[in-house]
This record gives sequence, structure tokens and C-alpha cells, in this order.
Amino acid sequence: MPKIMDGRKLAEEIKAEVKKEVRLLNEHGIDVGLAVLLVGDNPASEQYFLAIMRASKNVGITVYKHKFPDTVTINELLNIINSLNTDERVNGILIFLPLPKRINARRVINSIAPEKDVDGLGAISVGRLAADESTFQLFKNNSHEISESMSSFIPCTPFGVIKFLEYYGVALKGKHAVVISKSLAVGKPLSMMLLAKEATVTVCHRETKNLSALTIQADIICTATGQQGIIKGDMVKDGVIVVDIGIKVLSDGRIVGDVDFDSVKDRASLITPVPGGVGPVTIAMLIENTARSAKRSDLLKSPLLM
Ligand SMILES: NC(=O)c1ccc[n+]([C@@H]2O[C@H](COP(=O)([O-])OP(=O)(O)OC[C@H]3O[C@@H](n4cnc5c(N)ncnc54)[C@H](OP(=O)(O)O)[C@@H]3O)[C@@H](O)[C@H]2O)c1
Repeated sequence: MPKIMDGRKLAEEIKAEVKKEVRLLNEHGIDVGLAVLLVGDNPASEQYFLAIMRASKNVGITVYKHKFPDTVTINELLNIINSLNTDERVNGILIFLPLPKRINARRVINSIAPEKDVDGLGAISVGRLAADESTFQLFKNNSHEISESMSSFIPCTPFGVIKFLEYYGVALKGKHAVVISKSLAVGKPLSMMLLAKEATVTVCHRETKNLSALTIQADIICTATGQQGIIKGDMVKDGVIVVDIGIKVLSDGRIVGDVDFDSVKDRASLITPVPGGVGPVTIAMLIENTARSAKRSDLLKSPLLM
């Protein structure tokens, strides 16, 4: 029988630690704030926003919501980010994607100050991850420990995946990990993090030929395509560890992942469910990064460092 990896349990543990951190910061007169930018009316984004609100409120982080109509201009977004970059109440800035096609999303994301880029998607944060300048965060026993030299964050979803695997005692060194996605938000940073952990990494995407020939060799499969049932039981080896990051909302309102859970679970030693797997851990990592940003900025302003 496979062991089901419980994302809600891990998320609760992370949030309990963040709550202690935030309380300590509050005692020193520091409030922690997260600004969230939403464009248009996307029901999935609203759901995600509500989940972030709940989690933040629970740990004492204030959320500043900035909602714009679909007709928003790029300059309006750049202006608000510019003011949030210098807003002392705001320690993290999150932009919900996708933005309308006519807006250059990379330009908008890159305008976030790296020290407030808590989802790690700006070019500076991505570059630091690729250059192994921020991967030390993956090796801390207690990732709440920060130093003033920490000037960027690593993306929440893949960071959460690594935490999830380690929480369940998975040693990554030397393992063959197959990542299905090369997206900037999930596949690419996750591949880099797995490499930093000295796994052997195969990255797959839409143009990958014969996906099952690769997945059948995997010790660990991490999939984030949004394609229901892309991984089936006959595509994996016995004992495989499966992390399903994909989310798809079906027409009847059910939420499913990429993995055909029923056929894969019989072969897997560890498997994440959807919902209740990676999703809650992603949110926990977002608020953890936000609290760390507040702690770091306070440290930098300490008279002892001046
Ligand atoms: N659980 C969470 O916290 C969380 C967080 C973020 C995202 N997600 C979910 O993860 C999924 C992906 O999100 P994203 O923003 O990364 O999306 P994205 O930018 O569209 O990336 C999807 C990736 O999957 C690959 N792909 C799609 N169909 C494929 C197929 N049939 N075979 C092989 N590869 C395929 C794409 O390949 P190409 O590059 O070749 O197009 C791309 O690399 C979505 O379901 C999203 O809701 C979940």
C-alpha cells in the first residue's frame, strides 16, 4: 500500500512556525504584509486568493489586495508595483498569472524589487537560483533562519515540493527524478532545485517523445502539466514516488491532478493526492517567504549593522 503524502498536515506545521515568527516580529514592533495583485475576474484566482487570505490571517500577516479590471494598462501595474516596492508595510508582492496577453508579464514581474519577490519569479531571483546563489535555502534545517546576505527567494511551489519530499524522508541524492513541465513557475525551478540536491534530472514537456519510456525509469516523478491522467499505472515502476502538482477544475467542479491516482497508487511507495497535496504547501511556503522577508528587512535596518 502506498503512503499518501498529506500536504495539509505539512502546511499546518509550516504555518505554526510562521505564526511564532510573526508574533516575535510583532513584539518588536514589526508588522508583516503581503501585497497581492489580481487582474480580471478569474474564479480560480479568486479561490487561490481566498486561501492565501485565510492562511495569512491565521498567522498574523496582513494582505493588501489590489484588484484591476481586464482593461488595466501596463503602466498602471508598473506604477502600483513601484509604490509597493517602497511601501514599508509590504514585505512581499505576488502577481496572479496569467495577465492579459497584451501585457508583457515578464516586464511586470521583473519590476518587483528582488527582496520583495516572494514567489521568486523575477529575472534576478531566477538567475540567483540558476547560479546556485539562493539554493542554500534548501539546505537549512530550519528555513526560518535567515541572514542579511539572503537577498532573493526561491519559488514557492517547487520549494514546497522539495520540503514535501524531505518531510517524508525521501533522500534525493543520486535518485532519478523525472519532471514533467519546463515552465518558469514550476518545472524549470524544480529541476534546478533537484539538481542542487544532486538528483539526476530528466525534464519533459509537450515535445518529449515517448514520455512513458522516461517515466518508467524514474525513482521520483514530479508532474505539473494540468493534463488529467497524463501519468498512468503502466508508466511507472514499482516503488516510485509521485508528486502531482497539476490542478484541473472539471466541469462538475471536481479538482483533479495530472496523475491517474487509482492506477498509479498501487505501484507507488509515496504519492500526493489532489486536492490536499502540493497546493496547501505552496501557500504555506508563500507566507513563510513573506515572514522571512520581513525578518530580513528588519535585520538590515538594525542599527547594529549600520
Ligand atoms: N499545486 C500548486 O500549488 C500549483 C502551483 C502552480 C501551478 N499548479 C498547476 O500546475 C499546472 C501547470 O502550471 P504552470 O503555470 O506551470 O503551467 P504552464 O506554464 O502552462 O506549464 C505547463 C507545462 O506542462 C507541459 N505540458 C503540458 N501538456 C503536456 C503534455 N501533454 N505532455 C508533456 N508536457 C506537457 C508544458 O510543456 P511545454 O512547455 O512544451 O508547453 C509546460 O512545460 C497547472 O495545472 C497549474 O494549475 C499548481
